[in-house]
Amino acid sequence: MDKNTIQLLVEKAEQARGHSYSPYSNFSVGAALLCADGSIYLGTNIENASFTPTVCAERVAFFSAIFDGKRDFVAIAIVGGKNNEGGNYCPPCGVCRQVMSEFCTGDFKIILGGGAEPMVLALDEVMPLRFDLEKGTK
Ligand code: THU
Repeated sequence: MDKNTIQLLVEKAEQARGHSYSPYSNFSVGAALLCADGSIYLGTNIENASFTPTVCAERVAFFSAIFDGKRDFVAIAIVGGKNNEGGNYCPPCGVCRQVMSEFCTGDFKIILGGGAEPMVLALDEVMPLRFDLEKGTK
C-alpha cells in the first residue's frame, strides 16, 4: 500500500469525521473505505439517545458500499477521538472487526490515522481465528 494512498484515505476519514453525530459520547470517528475498483466510501458514527441503535463509522462505510453492490475491499482508514481531538489511534471495535471479517480476506488493511504516522495493520493481525460458518475458523 503506497504512502499517497494511505495519506489520501486518512484525509478522507478526517473529512468524514466532521459529519459525526455523537452528542452522547463526544467521541467522533471517521472512516474511508477503499474498494478494489478504486471507489472510496465514507462513514461516521451516528449515535442515539437509546444508545443501542448507535452505529460506528466503519459500519456506515461498509454498509453503504455493500448497498452499492461493492464486494471487493482493499483498505479502511479510521480516525477518531474525544472532543474532536487528534493525536491518538482509534482501532476498530470488535463488532466492526466482525463485519470486516464477513466481507474481507485476511490481507485487508486497517489504517489507523491520527497519530504521528499512520499505523497499517492486516485484518488477520487484529482478528486472528475468525469465525467461519463452514469450517469453524477462517
Ligand atoms: N465508534 C466508532 O465509530 N468506531 C469504532 O470502531 C469504535 C467506536 C463510535 C461509537 C460511539 O459513537 C463512539 O465511538 C464511542 O464509543
